[in-house]
Order: sequence, then C-alpha cells, then structure tokens
Amino acid sequence: MVQKKPLRVAVTGAGGQIGYSLLFSIAAGEVFGPDQPVILQMLELPIALDALRGVEMEILDCAFPLLHGTKATSELDEAFGDADAVFLVGSKPRQKGQERADLMRDNGPIFIGQGKSIDAVAAPDCKVLVVGNPCNTNALIAMSQAKRLPRRNFTAMTRLDENRAKAQLAIKAGAKTTDIQRLAVWGNHSPTMYPDYTNATIGGRKVTDVITDAAWLEGAFLTTVQQRGKAILDARGKSSAASAAFAAVDHMRDWFRPTPQGEWRSMAVPSDGSYGIPEGLICSFPVTVDAEGQWKIVQGVELDAKSKARIQKSVDELVEERDMVKDLLT
Ligand code: NAD
Ligand code: LMR
Repeated sequence: MVQKKPLRVAVTGAGGQIGYSLLFSIAAGEVFGPDQPVILQMLELPIALDALRGVEMEILDCAFPLLHGTKATSELDEAFGDADAVFLVGSKPRQKGQERADLMRDNGPIFIGQGKSIDAVAAPDCKVLVVGNPCNTNALIAMSQAKRLPRRNFTAMTRLDENRAKAQLAIKAGAKTTDIQRLAVWGNHSPTMYPDYTNATIGGRKVTDVITDAAWLEGAFLTTVQQRGKAILDARGKSSAASAAFAAVDHMRDWFRPTPQGEWRSMAVPSDGSYGIPEGLICSFPVTVDAEGQWKIVQGVELDAKSKARIQKSVDELVEERDMVKDLLT
C-alpha cells in the first residue's frame, strides 16, 4: 500500500495544559485519520522549551505508528515551515475574576508575529485554528496578516461551546450526545455566545418538543453553556484543558473531511456578511464542510426575534473587541 505523505502540524504553546493532551491525540491519528502520517512542529517560549522537550520525549515513548517526526522550537519560522495545519494555542489563560476579553492586550500581539510567519512559510492552503483567548479576536489579528493565504483559512474555536451545549441537552433529555444535531453556537467565545437550541433536534425531533421545560432552556441551559469556562476555572483553579484539546481535535478533524448530510458544525469563521454580520468579523456560525475541505456558512437558518437579538449582542461585542485592537490589525 502506498503511504500518504505526512502532514506537517504546528502546535503553539505546546508545553502547556492543552498541548499536553492535544499533541498525543494528533500523533495517535485522531485528527487526520488512521492512515495519515504526521510530523509535529511544536512551538514554545524559550523559557518553556526544556519542559516541552520532556513532553517530546513522552510523545516519542508512545511509539505512535503515524508519527513521522517531531520538532520542538522557539523559532516561529521553524514551527510553521510548510505546515498544513496550525493550532494556535500558546497564550495566557485567564485567572479567576478575569473575563477572556481581559487577555486581549497581553495575548493579541502574539498573533501578529505568528500570523506573519504562517503567511510567509506555511503551506499555501494551511488551515489555522486559534484556541488562545480571546480566540475570535486573536484569529482576526492573525488573519489580518494574511497576504498570501486565503483569509478563510483562519478560524477560531467555538466547538467546545457546542460540545458543552450538546452534553447539557443530552443529560436533560436522557439522550445520547450523538442524538443531538444542528446545535449551532453563534457569535463570540464569551458569555454573550448564543447556543441556538431553537433549530436543534434530538433524535430528529425539535429540542423544544422533547424538552418541554422552556424555563430551563431559556435559563439554566443558556447560562450553563455561556458560563462553563468560568465554572471550570472556579472549581479547578485552572481553565479547561482536556475538553478544550478534544474540541480542537473535533474542529480540525471536521475541517479536513466533508460534513455528513444534514449535520452542522460550529466554527468561528470570517463572516461573508451572512445574516447581516459585518464582513470579516470572526464570528461563530453553523457551517458545513465540502469534499475539498472548504467550510460554508449554512444559509436560511430561521431565527426568531429573541435569537436575532442575542446574536446581535454577541456581534456587537465582537465589533467592540475589534475596535480595541485596531492598532494590531494591518
Ligand atoms: P497554559 O498556560 O497551560 O499553556 C500556554 C502555553 O503557551 C505556555 O506553555 C506558554 O509558555 C505558551 N506560550 C505563551 N506565549 C507563547 C508564545 N508567544 N508562543 C508560544 N508559546 C507561548 O494555557 P492553556 O491552558 O494551555 O491555555 C492556552 C490558551 O487557550 C489560553 O489562552 C486559554 O484561555 C485558551 N483556551 C481557549 C479555549 C476555547 O474554547 N477557545 C478553551 C480553553 C482554553
Ligand atoms: C473555556 O471556555 O473553558 C476557555 O475559553 C477558558 C476560559 O477562560 O473560559
């Protein structure tokens, strides 16, 4: 059998909490498939490079059949060189009492240099997922550097929010998470995000027909999903990590393969103006991915007045965030 050419996969902040879970999933074939070899190109700050070398040793010690090489570096161009997929994780997580947006001025500048380097040295169709918070606006900063790469190749992660929403609905309905379809998260990865249950189904039936507790849907459901990051931070003393790594796996895997008929994925992507959302803003939408690995915003989703108002609130926040970093956008 002819073996596929290895994909080069760059991960930043590789020595951190999320990296410790994500790297092993990539090397195990959970993102790019069981017959797709990978080369891991891991980036860390110089101060954390020794720790990353320890993680690299552990990765090698797993003897992953699909792992065709590793590199641990602090040099941007080495990490992103010829990369086919990039996970931008490296950045500060928030501390108790902070909102994700409070990280903007600390983390935002990181994405200028990284965006420039990706644009200069990565593969021409490299797919970029920003995880580091505030991820929508950081993705906007990285995308603003794109002179060669298509802007649509820059995305941010709201899949964790989709997974959280599905888990809550499944528990409430006594269903499996796989029974829940078309649960799209709209807007910003922040407390204003809108997990739209009104268009979602459980076992093919409308969520509102299966879960008749409207007060729960409008109350505890929405706030649990919107505030889940804070609840984990308060309980653990550290922000979510393994669940974030799993969501990053889901996001990238589902970007590299066609979406099954009838299903949707939540991805924060550059808006094309759909649903009146300003063009270029990195906003979460329901998307599908075609056989060429191109995402498309699902059109014609019916949104009631309450849903529209909620999405608008989150979009307004994204516009405010964009204004706060306008000096970082080129
Ligand atoms: P962490 O502190 O454990 O690890 C971050 C790592 O990034 C550290 O090892 C640090 O040395 C490294 N780093 C910092 N600046 C860097 C740079 N310029 N280049 C390369 N590496 C750099 O944090 P974590 O728990 O892994 O979280 C990482 C980020 O992901 C945080 O911003 C967090 O808020 C975010 N996050 C996002 C989501 C989401 O759903 N979008 C979910 C969870 C966490
Ligand atoms: C999350 O949603 O868990 C992450 O964005 C981390 C955080 O700060 O909430």
